[in-house]
Formats: sequence, C-alpha cells, structure tokens
Amino acid sequence: MCGIVGYLGKNQAQNILLDGLKRLEYRGYDSAGLTVYNGSEFKTLKVKGKVAELAKLLSQQKISGTIGIAHTRWATHGEPSERNAHPHSDCQGEVFVVHNGIVENYKALKQELEKEGHKFSSETDTEVIAHLVEKFIAAGLNLESAVKKSLHLIKGTYALLIMAKIEPDKIIAARLSSPLRIGVGPDQFIIASDPSAILNYTQQLITLDDKEVAVIDQQGYHISALDGNGSVDKEIEKIEWDMTAIEKGGFDHFMLKEIFEQPETVSNSLRGRLIDQQGLAALGGLKEVETELRRIKRINLVACGTAYHACLVGEYMLEEYAGIPTEVCVASEFRYRKPILDPQTDVIIVVSQSGETADTLAAVKEAKEKDVLTLGIVNVIGSTIARETDAGVYNHAGPEIGVASTKVFISQLVVLALLTLFLGRQRQMSLVTGGRIAEELRKIPGYINQILEQNEKISQMAKDYGQFKDFFYLGRKYNFPVALEGALKLKEISYVHSEGIAAGELKHGPLAMIEKDLPSVFICPQDSVYDKNLSNMEEIKARQGKIIAIATSGDTEIAKIADEVIYIPKTLEMLTPMLAVVPLQLFAYHFANQRGLDVDKPRNLAKSVTVE
Ligand code: F6R
Repeated sequence: MCGIVGYLGKNQAQNILLDGLKRLEYRGYDSAGLTVYNGSEFKTLKVKGKVAELAKLLSQQKISGTIGIAHTRWATHGEPSERNAHPHSDCQGEVFVVHNGIVENYKALKQELEKEGHKFSSETDTEVIAHLVEKFIAAGLNLESAVKKSLHLIKGTYALLIMAKIEPDKIIAARLSSPLRIGVGPDQFIIASDPSAILNYTQQLITLDDKEVAVIDQQGYHISALDGNGSVDKEIEKIEWDMTAIEKGGFDHFMLKEIFEQPETVSNSLRGRLIDQQGLAALGGLKEVETELRRIKRINLVACGTAYHACLVGEYMLEEYAGIPTEVCVASEFRYRKPILDPQTDVIIVVSQSGETADTLAAVKEAKEKDVLTLGIVNVIGSTIARETDAGVYNHAGPEIGVASTKVFISQLVVLALLTLFLGRQRQMSLVTGGRIAEELRKIPGYINQILEQNEKISQMAKDYGQFKDFFYLGRKYNFPVALEGALKLKEISYVHSEGIAAGELKHGPLAMIEKDLPSVFICPQDSVYDKNLSNMEEIKARQGKIIAIATSGDTEIAKIADEVIYIPKTLEMLTPMLAVVPLQLFAYHFANQRGLDVDKPRNLAKSVTVE
C-alpha cells in the first residue's frame, strides 16, 4: 500500500524522508519519489523499484533543503513506472502532491481539466489534484483555499501532502478515509501515513481526522475542517509503540492483520464498481471488450492454489446467475490438456494475486496462440499477467505480505461476483436479481466484522484441537471450494495433513477413514444443500468423528450434531464463501501459531511462484 512522509524543520529533509520511506517498505510498493524545496527551487526525484534506488540517486545528486514530501507507491491507476510515481505535479511544475487513496471521479475531472488546457504527464488519478490546485491558485486563491476547493470536487479517499511555489515554506496535509499523522517537535514536524515513519523522531503525535486540513510551517500548525476556516483543537498523544508491532498494525503476524483487514478489502474491491439501483457492475477494465463479451458462450477460469479455489466458486456464480457454461482448470494442467477453445465464443479468465505465476502466465500464452480473448483478475498492478491479458479487473486489495493468501482470496470472490453481475446483466439476469446481489454485497464488510468478533473463541478451539494430526474439510456447492481453501490454509502453515472434500463424495471413499482421531470441519450454512449436509454430518457422528461446523446464525439444530459451531451471518448463497472462509483462516492461523511456526513464511513456499 502507498506510504507518505513529509518533513519540515531545521534538518536536511532528504535524510528524514528517506528514512521514513524505508520504514514504510514493509507495506509493499513498486516505486518511490520525493520533492524537496531548497529555498529557491523545488527538486523532484523518482524511481521505479526500491527506496534503495532512490537513496542511490540521492547519494549522487544531493538535494539540500529542510522541507519536503515523499511517497512509496503501490500502483492502482497506471503501471508502476517513474512517470506514475509520486510526487505529481501541475503543468508549470509549481504544485507537488503525494497521495494515498483513490480519486474515483478522476476521469471526469481530467477530461474537464484537459478541455481547459491542462496537460497531464502520468496515468494516475492523483495528478488531477495537482492540476485542480494549480487552477484555483491561478484564479487567485491562496494555497490552503485552493487545496480545500479542490478537495470539495474530489470523490474517493485520500491522505494528501501538498507543497507549492506560491507558499513554498508550507506543507498542507489532508485526509479522508486514509490515515495521516503529524509528529510534533522538537523544532520539526514529520507527517506520515504510518507512525513507524515518525516515532524515531518524536512520540508526540496528532492524528488527523476525516475532512480535516492542516497547514504546517516553521511557526507551527493550524488545523481546520474542510468545510470551515476556524481552528479544530487537536490533542497531542504520546505514543510508545514497539516498531515491529506498528508495521504489523499491532498484530503478531501479517497474516492475522490481513485477515482482519478483510472488511476493508471488500469495500476497496467494490469501490466505485456497483450501480446499486440498476443492479449493475461498472468494470472500467472491461470497457474495451464489452461488446466482445456479449457473444461469449463459454468461460474458462484458470489459476493456481487459492486463486483456483476462488475460480471454483466463480464457476457456480457464473453458471447460476449469468447462465454461461463455465469450466475451471488448474493452470499447471491447462496447456498440457490440449484445451479445445473456440476464438469466437470462448474467453479465458486467469486469476492471480501476484500476476507473475508461471503456470498461469503460460495459460495466457496458450490462449493467445489460439486467438482466444484473455481477461485477468489480478492484484498487482502492472504485473506480467496484467499486461499480457487483453483486459481485466484489478482486485485493489493492497499488498498481501503473508505467504498464505487470505484477503486477496476474498477480493477474488468479490471481483468474480461483480463479473457475474456484469455478464449476467448483459444477458438474462433481471434488474431485481442484480439489485439484490448488489445490496447484499454492500453488507459483506459488516458481516465479516461480526465473524472477526469470534476470534478469541476460534483461537481457543484451535488450542482444543491442537493435538490432531489429520483433518477433513467438507462442503457442498458454493462451499465445496471453501472446504478446499480451508484445508489448504491449515496444511500450508501448520504442516498438518488436511483434505478438502465435496461432502457428497464422503461415502465414495473418505468415510472409511472417519474415527475419533480425525475431526471434520463442516461448512454447513442454511442454503439449498443444507439437508444433504446434515445427513453427511450424521454419518460422521455415527462413527465417533468430531465435527466443527460453520453454520448460519440462529441455527440451533446444528449444535445438536456438531461438537463446535462457529456462526456466520445469513447472506445470499452465492456470497456465503466470503463469510465461511473467515473462521477457517482464523482457525488455521491460531493452530499454526500455537505450534510456534512461522505463520507468515511457511517452509518451502514463496509468495510469487515464477517457476513451473
Ligand atoms: C496459498 C497461496 C497460493 C497462491 C498460488 C497462486 O495460500 O497463496 O496457493 O494462491 O500460488 O498465486 P497467484 O495468485 O499469485 O497466482
């Protein structure tokens, strides 16, 4: 995720900015940059890649000056490149902006500004802010008023630092739904999106709240509401945090942090993409292929591991709601299978967090050789798969650092649900059905929060089941892939044998293994296959098998059969995987953590699998 640092004081800004950027590296990023004012002019340096590259550049061409802003970028609009790295500037190179968040209406604003003669030099949403500020300064406003006026036009989220030639000794800071803190004194201010960039210098912190704007200069700071001019009194807090704890947001591991981020991840993946009243999904990345997609008669979903499990859920969604025959294939098998593809009616959709997985990329190449339309559902912007596919949809889940995928799995499910809406509404899906899905998707973040409240209970359960060496995970229909995913999460971080099974297959073999030492995790919400699942649970019970059930809130029947029950809120059947997977992630996490294992970096595994 992007990171922001600003400095204003008596020391050389570049050293403190660089140190701050280094401390934000753990968040993941793809490019970095800074702007420093040396008393007579602004100097900007940017690099694609690591902060170390920026440091190298700075060691060759020192930028002196005691005021500056800096940024690490995680691409959302436009590929990772020097051109798209922050700080962004206006036409004259007199306004400088670093930004975390997304300007959702940037396209409309950009068109308007271009009509007025503004020239853009990046593909980012952020650059519109610099041009808006330029425009209002040209109209006679001072810097603070020009920033405030610009922010009134912006829809979306932001943490912002802005400097400008008109008042070069000031930094303006503003926030809306993206964190920003001001470190105060002695004799200096360090402003950052994350306290880890500040605490080395001061423990006195002010937290900006939404729709607050701070003007900072050598004399001090003044904070006002975006909609007014009077001062807002802010408390200075003393923060005594352990630095490593901060990087992980206070969680013991990135995996746990990422599990807890999931309500926000869902909101980020949905942002700007649902037109609720019309029951439609607006997927900008598919605009160019919208007409081609109308003639598609078969979808081929291809991916590996967790992303493959998301595809299996997608298959149910797309067939049931979009009415398009859908096949799913693991990428490592796809090209060896000699897939029969028709360029007129087939589409290949690959799903990949990293966008670099060798097998998934090979599937894209295979499809291209056969002239078949390829789409990507990818998290890392500008990654190879994102570039190689004809069109696609980004997850916008932010960087995932834990090797075991959690929040990106949920965001893959969200994007597949959006795609189902998109393709379904192109076909026979009614406005009412589309509207219902949209309405329910909006509730998912709140529902996940309710499940996360059961973390302590799940942790205790992981302790109680800590001695077992084998687990079955069972589910049907939409939740069969969730069983596979739950089993994968447990085995990859705890090294304990676990197997995901379609519950209907139990009698065809696996039932032979059931006995008191083999517990089953059963995903059994009140859906269209509920009764069938109950029968399977009875079969396990009759053979002394222990059962942990994931069930719908209020289901008292299930507690009579299962040994343990974790409840999830009721939602549409197609969306239950977004909820049912959360307790399974938590169970796997606590199970492995209680064994003292390295949860974020399981043995033998890598985050990005670039070899076959
Ligand atoms: C498991 C996990 C892997 C990945 C798989 C594909 O937790 O993360 O199974 O899902 O290696 O990776 P991407 O999505 O980067 O193509």
